Amino acid sequence: MVKVAVLGYGTVGSGVVQVIKDNNELVSKRSGTEVDVKYILDLREFPGDPYESLVIHDFNTIVADPEIGVVCETMGGVGAAYAFTKQCLEAGKSVCTSNKELVAKHGPELLEIAKANNCSYLFEASVGGGIPIIRPIMDALCAEKIESILGILNGTTNYILTKMEQEGADFDAVLKEAQALGYAERDPSADIEGHDACRKIAILSSLMTGKNVDSEKVYTEGITKITAEDFAFAKEAGYTIKILGVSEAKEDGSTLIYVSPFLINKAHPLAMVNDVFNAIFVTGNMVGDTMYYGKGAGKLPTASAVVADVIDAARHIGKNIPCYWDAQSAKLAELDDVSHKFFVRIKSEKLYELENLFPGGEELDMAFGGQRVYITPEVNEKEFRTAAEKLGDGLLGRIRVYG
Ligand code: HSE
Repeated sequence: MVKVAVLGYGTVGSGVVQVIKDNNELVSKRSGTEVDVKYILDLREFPGDPYESLVIHDFNTIVADPEIGVVCETMGGVGAAYAFTKQCLEAGKSVCTSNKELVAKHGPELLEIAKANNCSYLFEASVGGGIPIIRPIMDALCAEKIESILGILNGTTNYILTKMEQEGADFDAVLKEAQALGYAERDPSADIEGHDACRKIAILSSLMTGKNVDSEKVYTEGITKITAEDFAFAKEAGYTIKILGVSEAKEDGSTLIYVSPFLINKAHPLAMVNDVFNAIFVTGNMVGDTMYYGKGAGKLPTASAVVADVIDAARHIGKNIPCYWDAQSAKLAELDDVSHKFFVRIKSEKLYELENLFPGGEELDMAFGGQRVYITPEVNEKEFRTAAEKLGDGLLGRIRVYG
């Protein structure tokens, strides 16, 4: 028998309890032992909740209870969640988490503690919600040298960009709508500024390289500067706009990792991933392209991934499930050295100057409110920045073009 404690009875935590309770027979059968929830740790009371009798407020009860073999950390943040995770692992209890912020910040240390204490730190739900992506990279693709990972990793921003495209609406209006529907948080900055996607691509890149990718060193650009005009022009030219996490192995052993909005051709499979869905492309040197698609957020999809980890942990009580992610830092390639085409939105009177700065590009035959757009030829990031500065406030917006 394995007893489980759930830390944090919010959206994901209550989903974890629901999955373990509603699917109890199959969860136990597939674990090879009876699995059930013994404690739910939360500061709040939950009168009337079917599992209110399991709610406790003292974390020490969990660490001190030898019956608890697996702990689900669904609190979020890097304060109490970090301290509690460490204490559980030190006590030999496996921890399964959806907390990408904690995994990105302290992954190697927590994995090492788990190994030293013959238990496991599992984080399938930290990237892509209900989409299997951590286990495919660690297990199904473990014979591969992974060459690149590319993905739509954030549901909130994908929802906002989809609505901007479909409704021709402005960013602020769609953000408000997303908040009203509960898709975007009241403080949406981690999503819209790209930090959430950055933590996720850093986790995936750490698994890809086997070394630690510090998410704070990853170039990250959010979607707050994307306008209804960008979409109008992009649509007309056969593109849509998506925010992507990109990770590419370079020949010199470094890895290029960044998060940015991109113009992406309408025919590309990622252009068809809409609303809160996520999709991740993983390319291996033997298998070629593989793609993973599904609900990247939400109570039950995320909880399902946490419970899959609970089952794996229950099957390995007293043993460590290895994860090849060491503390040594991965070598990051400089974004400045990379070349892209850039989609540039400019005041009409500056078009000639822009074409002279980046000759040989594609002028789109569209004008809108005194604005024009031009797609540069492939140009190095640093050269683009330096040249574009000459356009001053004539440059209204620029977006990298994917591919
Ligand atoms: N805020 C995240 C998203 C939740 O919108 O994708 C899932 O990690």
